[in-house]
Amino acid sequence: MAKDLFNENCPQGVTTTSLINGKTSGVINLNSIKYQWAYNLWEIMLNNTWFPKEVDITKDITQYKTLTPSEKGLYDKVLAQLIFMDGLQTNNTVDNVNPWITAPEINMCLVRQAMEEALHSQSYAVMVDSISINTNEIYEMWRVDKKLYSKNKHIVDIYNRYASEAEDSMEAKIYMIVANQCLEGIYFYSGFAAMYALARNGKMPGSAQMIKFIQRDEITHLLLFANIFNSMRAEFPESFTEKVMENIRELFKEAANLEIDWGNYITEEGILGLNNEIITNFVHFQVNSRANAIGMKDIYPEVGHKVNPITWFDSFSKINDIKTNFFEGNNAAYSKGSVSMDDF
Ligand SMILES: [Fe+2]
Ligand SMILES: [Fe+2]
Repeated sequence: MAKDLFNENCPQGVTTTSLINGKTSGVINLNSIKYQWAYNLWEIMLNNTWFPKEVDITKDITQYKTLTPSEKGLYDKVLAQLIFMDGLQTNNTVDNVNPWITAPEINMCLVRQAMEEALHSQSYAVMVDSISINTNEIYEMWRVDKKLYSKNKHIVDIYNRYASEAEDSMEAKIYMIVANQCLEGIYFYSGFAAMYALARNGKMPGSAQMIKFIQRDEITHLLLFANIFNSMRAEFPESFTEKVMENIRELFKEAANLEIDWGNYITEEGILGLNNEIITNFVHFQVNSRANAIGMKDIYPEVGHKVNPITWFDSFSKINDIKTNFFEGNNAAYSKGSVSMDDF
């Protein structure tokens, strides 16, 4: 059952007793919160505010016509897949996760996230509308591209499964959080790398700029879900059995295999310096990073989680270093002015 909007039996003085099955009055008192990390994150998310129409993609409009057929195919497929995932996230966040989170400060972050996912959908609309001759071709690609369809279907099937079980099951709630990490921290990443690879070769810089903004938002979403997971584990350690942890490892491995397959497909097994081996290591590195963020060891120890196998990736995605300052609540570096075209 979704949480009560008003609970008269809540204790005085705190927003909630717990993020799961907690008692909350419905009054959002941000001067007396239980989860300080959520408030810090909220501030960061607000400071990240940006608008797709502010990004200059005029160069891309002419450049798109000069891309090779492989590059064009890559660009279109990446957009088609990102479009699907952000649409899904807009709804999943508020429909399937927010209803059972009983901490107002975390609810605020989740609804803010949903707004950002909608903003990402708008940014794809701006890109597709500008560069594409036939806009529907990209939006409708899932109907004809079997690989795209099966990736999308796999993602949504997992979401649907845990969403239907989550209200009554702590285990399903845990898997739902991990499934979210898989989407935002694994399934997005071949697409991000492909867009940056194009920009690195002097192509489609406006699109890459848009993706940089999107990725900056996604980093906060990953932090949000990693912190939800870690708070759940701290408060309900008995639910995180060895079997559950093993299932989480399996979810991550399944996501890795799907993403590697997708990455190889969109790069036709080797364009713009992205080949099978690099993509495999890159995806394994992302999985390890997600696992470490929720207190697990590397799932692919041979790759680790410290050095990105795509050495230039971080120079594109490093808009600000949220991870280091996050818990200190130092938000000074997070204004939208921190991203500039000079970064290319
Ligand atoms: Fe997004
Ligand atoms: Fe997201």
